[in-house]
Amino acid sequence: PVLVVDFGAQYAQLIARRVREARIYSEVIAHDATLEEIKAKNPAALILSGGPASVYADDAPTIDEKLFDLGVPVFGICYGFQKMTAALGGTVANTGGREFGRTTLTVADGGKLHRGLPESQPVWMSHNDAVQVAPEGFTVTASTPGAPVAAFECAERQMAGVQYHPEVLHSPHGQEVLTRFLYEIANLTPTWTAANIAEALIADIREQVGDEGLAICGLSGGVDSAVAAALVQRAIGDRLTCVFVDHGLLRAGEREQVQTDFVAATGARLVTVDAEDVFLGHLDGVSDPETKRKIIGREFIRSFEGAVSEVLGDQAAAGKKVDFLVQGTLYPDVVESGGGSGTANIKSHHNVGGLPEDLEFKLVEPLRLLFKDEVRAVGRELGLPEEIVARQPFPGPGLAIRIVGSVTKDRLELLRKADLIAREELTSAGLDGQIWQCPVVLLADVRSVGVQGDGRTYGHPIVLRPVSSEDAMTADWTRVPYEVLETISTRITNEVPDVNRVVLDVTSKPPGTIEWE
Ligand code: XMP
Repeated sequence: PVLVVDFGAQYAQLIARRVREARIYSEVIAHDATLEEIKAKNPAALILSGGPASVYADDAPTIDEKLFDLGVPVFGICYGFQKMTAALGGTVANTGGREFGRTTLTVADGGKLHRGLPESQPVWMSHNDAVQVAPEGFTVTASTPGAPVAAFECAERQMAGVQYHPEVLHSPHGQEVLTRFLYEIANLTPTWTAANIAEALIADIREQVGDEGLAICGLSGGVDSAVAAALVQRAIGDRLTCVFVDHGLLRAGEREQVQTDFVAATGARLVTVDAEDVFLGHLDGVSDPETKRKIIGREFIRSFEGAVSEVLGDQAAAGKKVDFLVQGTLYPDVVESGGGSGTANIKSHHNVGGLPEDLEFKLVEPLRLLFKDEVRAVGRELGLPEEIVARQPFPGPGLAIRIVGSVTKDRLELLRKADLIAREELTSAGLDGQIWQCPVVLLADVRSVGVQGDGRTYGHPIVLRPVSSEDAMTADWTRVPYEVLETISTRITNEVPDVNRVVLDVTSKPPGTIEWE
């Protein structure tokens, strides 16, 4: 892989993603990894990421300078650029030329990185110190007002660096520059394609599960669990059983997507647990959000465990047990939890709502090295339908946490209608790409007066909560065009009984969360 050495800034993951967008496999590695650990990964190139510190600070993160003698191509970014300069004999100084945010890069001599790109271009900077003198043998190819040496390269040693952040969208030519490092300086060939990824993952799963192992996977209808299950199915066929718990809190069409579309596309063996009555029974009269979540979590586990013993039913006689649990954990989760390899405890299953820690399964996590967009690409490669692959996130507790008030069958029915209308209209307005997700919320405990036809109504409001986000940690409300909002509002108030008002949530996160409960 291309190793992105993380100096503790938030950019390392983004750099890894950008490298993969250039169709080259990359991983993030901590800056204090030993030379041996790095060598063991057999890196195709090293990218030294940005970091928070000054290279001269006492607690400045360091790297083993022998890295530069491995004969592996190196690209330094921001702090990594300075680190590289210092290690290779150039000089870095604090000249007071600090730059934060957008500045203008002037390209002196194109070199390989900037050849043919605009002589003057915006780039995103964040630095106090600056490189004063490039190491010997390196050609300086660009500058900014605060950084006389803003880029350098040495084709012979296959090394280059930039002071700015090529990985952020505010550096419009950044991806091109990063790609040129990979292709033209490091001489790498792009092979990280959906087809290759899928093939490699399937081989890995076969190896992990072996010729006999049985596996189980909870399906939520979401992208991650569907793609994980599809990969495992390709690898071990009917030794995988997918379990789908229909808790009655799903949106319109979701059950069919799993039961019909997913099964048709993958041929996977599916057990559906019809648990609507059980869930609604336990939720009866409950309006406290946390209580709802706890009930749903608990009942989910019960249903899942019931399904496991059902699956075992025909196998148990032969002394078999289910050894593996398939989970759709993604790379950002892995990196954020410290990259912990072999974490055997079951962490809360985002897609399906929290499995207990004492379930004794080994985990199969085929997506643990992938980013969301790669998961989607692999899903398409495996022939999963677009409705599943492009689906927006939907919480495990489902519509129950989108009804403010207690959950009843009637209220669910009403919310399902409103939600479907909103989804249809946002999709047909071509807004799916801009919207991370759009919760539709029924304020079941609120009533307002309206007039419809000649009569007074006293109905419930529906809240639209369209948000834009990269990772759901923060979010902004999406500026949906008024005409689209108007269509949604008109349709919902006309078509959904008991709803006489549609309101728009214009709160960012923070302070609001995305969901209402
Ligand atoms: P909040 O409301 O915390 O939501 O801003 C952040 C993201 O997480 C989703 N979400 C959940 N997903 N189980 C899930 O699988 C849950 O219990 C849950 N609660 C919130 C939410 O839809 C958003 O994408």
